[in-house]
This record gives sequence, C-alpha cells and structure tokens, in this order.
Amino acid sequence: MSKIIDGKKIAKNIRMELKEEITKLKNEGRAPGLTVVMVGNNPASETYVSMKEKAAEEIGINSKLIKKEESISEEALLKLIDQLNNDNTVDGILVQLPLPDHIDEKKVIESIKADKDVDGFHPINTGRLFSGQEDVLRYEACTPLGIIRLLEREGIEIDGKNATIVGRSNIVGKPIAHLLLERHATVTICHSHTKDLKAEIKRADIVVAAVGRPEMITGDMIQEGAVVIDVGINRVGKKLLGDVEFKTAKKVASKITPVPGGVGPMTIAMLMENTVKARKYHGV
Ligand code: GUN
Repeated sequence: MSKIIDGKKIAKNIRMELKEEITKLKNEGRAPGLTVVMVGNNPASETYVSMKEKAAEEIGINSKLIKKEESISEEALLKLIDQLNNDNTVDGILVQLPLPDHIDEKKVIESIKADKDVDGFHPINTGRLFSGQEDVLRYEACTPLGIIRLLEREGIEIDGKNATIVGRSNIVGKPIAHLLLERHATVTICHSHTKDLKAEIKRADIVVAAVGRPEMITGDMIQEGAVVIDVGINRVGKKLLGDVEFKTAKKVASKITPVPGGVGPMTIAMLMENTVKARKYHGV
C-alpha cells in the first residue's frame, strides 16, 4: 500500500458504488434529489458548488442549483428553504456558506428540516452525534465523515489510538473528535490556547490538521509512523498548501494525505453519500 493516501481515487470508488445504488433507487421509482442554494457570487463558493453539481449529475442524483442575489433578504431565503422543506422531490438541501453578513447563518441552518440536512450542520444532527445517538437518522458533516471513510478504506485502526486534532471548528474539529471518540480513539483537540502543540501532536498515532494555517505542522512535530490527515486548503499565491508541511511530514508519517487530492474529494463524495441516505430515508 502506498504511503500517500489517494483521496481522489478512494472518492471516485465511493462515487461509483453510489452510482450503482442510485440506479437501483431510480428503478424503485425515484432518483435522490439534492438542491444547492447559493447566495451571491463568492468565487470559492462558485468553485465548490460547481464541483458538487458535477459529482451529483455524474452519478445520477437529481441535482438543482438555486442562485440568489447577494441582496436577498433573510426572510426571503427562509421562505425558499421552507418551500424546499415541503418539496417531496428534494431529499437534501445544502445552503452554501458563507452567507452575506445581513443573514443570520445559524437561523438559516436551523430552518432546514433536519432530515434534509445533508451537510450535517443542523443542531439536531450535531446533537445526535455529540450525544452518541447512532440508532436514529443522523447526518454527519461531510469533511469529518470523509476522513473516517479514508481511514476505513486504508485499513487504519482507530480503536485505542491517540488521535490529536488541531483546530476546533464546528465543521471539522469538533465533529471529527466525536467520530473518532465513537470509534474508541483517545482524542485530544488543540487550538490557539494550547500550551505545547508540538508535545500534543508528537504523541498522536493519528494527526488531523484543520486549522487553516499553511504548513504550520512540520515533520519534526510528528511521531514516526503516525497517520497524517491534512484538511487545510490554503491559497498562497498560485499554490494550494495544506496545514501540514508535506515534504518534511512525509518522511516520518506511515501514511499521509496530499493537498490537493486528499480530504477534498472525499468531502464531495460524502455529500453524495448523505444524499443517497436521505433518499432512502424519505422513500419513493
Ligand atoms: N462552505 C465551505 N464548506 C462548506 C460545506 O461543507 N458546506 C456548506 N454548506 N458550505 C460550505
């Protein structure tokens, strides 16, 4: 097995598996439906949204993009979400973030029906994750779920391992901590107030870097043989850099994700997985 974890290939395999499942769902009567709502024209959001659309169409998800002007009122956006909540052909609703300053992001996320929240950001879904409810419908955020799938597909043991997460965001740091904890890792979350970051990372068998600071984690901070998952996507000039200094970390890690081509493609594949899950939950 290669030392570099090929997220692009693993994501493609997952998408192909989902495509087969979607064919069966179509034969049963209905393809999964995903509606992406985008407000304004943030260039990064445009890129992400078009990648999501392309992936969905390729595997047979009935995907729709609703674009709204930057000036849309919060009330009008909430009304649109209400319509989507009540549309039986829509299994998943994704409101691309960030939203303009005059719109309350939390209010918008909470307005999405929890059983259509394929982003896994609704407090019902995060609550079910944080309180360990596995026996009910629960969507997990796509990036952390993608990390778990990468570890699974690479055959990396989680049970009993020391996992150190750098970054405590609601979208990555906190949910990945819970997903790893649920799989019996000993989890440490580091952040800007952590006293000795190097020492915390050094004892990790699994390092998850999700801080958004280019190449801040260097090879000398990492334990020999550790698995390194780099969630960072930092644009520096024309380059795309991770939170990990790949060149030095690669020398000590047993396995490492590259940027790009590591976690990124998995995030999109997990959105597809969650949309299929939503369609199965809703039925024909
Ligand atoms: N903006 C950046 N990443 C994401 C994501 O995963 N979901 C949504 N809705 N917006 C984002």
